[in-house]
Amino acid sequence: MNKKSLLAGACLAILVACGTAKNSTPKVEVMPTQGDVDRVQTKFPGYTLDELHEGKKLFEANCNLCHRLKKPASEPEEEWRTIVPRMVKKVNNKEGHHVDPAGEEKILRYLITMGSVGK
Ligand code: HEC
Repeated sequence: MNKKSLLAGACLAILVACGTAKNSTPKVEVMPTQGDVDRVQTKFPGYTLDELHEGKKLFEANCNLCHRLKKPASEPEEEWRTIVPRMVKKVNNKEGHHVDPAGEEKILRYLITMGSVGK
């Protein structure tokens, strides 16, 4: 192999690496923990870590169809309570996507819970 093809190979490897990084499903970095569930127990009695995880999954699967995933801390609770129903209507207008009222509540609780980290 000559120098040129080595260089071309290196460039290709970098391009491929970047390409795969871009195409992977976006994930929210912060993993919810039991501590998060405990923090909002008075607000959402009986709330579980499973429900919190489900809310995160629904959020990741449906809330980046038109824009990037918004950060839970980007809006205060009162705002999420009006934004989420409005956005879920948009999700449900998209073919192949459906979030039912229980799912809407899970997304809302996920955003309120993770938006209150450190508060
Ligand atoms: C069908 C496209 C679409 C989907 C799906 C969608 N959004 Fe949006 N979103 C928009 C558009 C368009 C705007 C800006 C204009 C507006 O507010 O309607 C927006 C704006 C926002 C904003 C900025 C605040 C605001 O009041 O405008 C937030 C926060 C948001 N979206 C959250 C979400 C969440 C959470 C979900 C998932 C439940 C979601 N979006 C799903 C299209 C979408």
